[in-house]
Amino acid sequence: MKSSAIAHANIALVKYWGRSDSRLNIPLNDSVSMTKCGTDGVKLQSHTTIEFSEKYTDDTAFLDGNPVSGVGCQVSGNKCQLSGRSFERVLAVVNPLRKKANCNLHFKMASKNDFPTQSGLASSAAGFAALAAATADALKLKLTKEELSTYARLGSGSACRSIHGGFVQWHKGTSHETSFAEQICKPNDFQMNAVIAIVSEEKKEVTSDAGHESSPTSPLNEMRVQKSQEHAVQVKKAILDNDFSTAGKIAEQSCMMMHSVMLTSKPPLLYWTADTGKIIKKVHQARENGLECYFTIDAGPNVHVLCRPEKVDEIQKMLVGYKTIVAGQGEGAKIADQHLF
Ligand code: DP6
Repeated sequence: MKSSAIAHANIALVKYWGRSDSRLNIPLNDSVSMTKCGTDGVKLQSHTTIEFSEKYTDDTAFLDGNPVSGVGCQVSGNKCQLSGRSFERVLAVVNPLRKKANCNLHFKMASKNDFPTQSGLASSAAGFAALAAATADALKLKLTKEELSTYARLGSGSACRSIHGGFVQWHKGTSHETSFAEQICKPNDFQMNAVIAIVSEEKKEVTSDAGHESSPTSPLNEMRVQKSQEHAVQVKKAILDNDFSTAGKIAEQSCMMMHSVMLTSKPPLLYWTADTGKIIKKVHQARENGLECYFTIDAGPNVHVLCRPEKVDEIQKMLVGYKTIVAGQGEGAKIADQHLF
C-alpha cells in the first residue's frame, strides 16, 4: 500500500484570506487560482510518497529529508519545515482518508519540494495536494477530483486548488463536503504566465495560518470578503472570455485588498520588503508604457508578474537584477511511478 503523487503550486487571482472554520479550513470567500508549472528547471512542484504497512509502529513524515515534528516544528535546530501545526496538518489529511478506507495501519510519508518551502510560494499547497492524491491512491479509494480536493483542503486551504490543473475555483461552501475546488478551464485554454520575482527565499515570520486567524480584527475584512465573491464571478467570466485585461486588473485589486486587511489587522502584518514596492512601481510604469502586465503577491514578499506568454521576455528584462522563475500553467495532482523511499 504505497503510492506517490506530484502536484504543483498555485497562485491565487482572487485571494483566500480568513476562514469561518479553522479546523476544516472553510474560507470566508470563494477564490480563484492558476496552477503553476515552472518552464525552466524549477517546476514548482511537490513529490510525495506514502506507504501504509504493518512494518511501521508509528506514523512518521519527512520533508526534504527532515522529520516533520509534532509540535511547532522544532526539529533539532532545523528550520520549521511545514507551516504552523506541521505534523498535525499531515494527520488532518491522512486520518479521515485512512478512516474512510477502514485501514488501521501506520504510515511513513516523505515529501520533496523543488522550490523554497514556506516563503510565500505556496509550497504547502503543492505538498498537501500531492499528499491527498498519494494517500487516496495508496488506500485504493476511488474519489472524484472534487472529493479529493476537500481532503487536500484539510492540510492547507489553498491546496484544494492544486488538485486541478489550469484555472480553478474554490467554492467556499459551508461544510467539509461543500467546500471544494472545481476546474474552470484546462491548462493553456486561457493564456497567462507568471514571472515570479524572488525577492526573498527566507521562511516567512508569520504563517498564513496566523494571518487567517487575525483577519477579522481588520476593519476592512468584511468589505474584502464581500468584494471577493464578486471578484470570483468576474474573474471566472474573464478567464472564459479570454479577457486578460479584466482578469489582471481583478487579480491586482484582490491582492491589494488582502494586503490592506493584513496591514490593518491586529497585530499588523507586513509581508513586503522595499524590493516588493519597487517591483509594484515597475509594473505600474510598464503599463503606462504599453507593456500589459499585472502583479499579485501572496503572504510573502515575492511578486508574481502576470502577463501573456509572448511578453515574458520583456517582463524578465524589466526585472533584471532579480532572480526570476517563469511559470506557465501546470496539470493537476497526478500519481507518479517513482517513489521517494
Ligand atoms: C495568501 O492555504 O497557506 O496564499 O489554509 O492555513 O494552510 P492555510 O493557508 P494557506 O493560505 C494562503 C493564502 C494566500 C492566498 C491564496 O492562496 O488564496
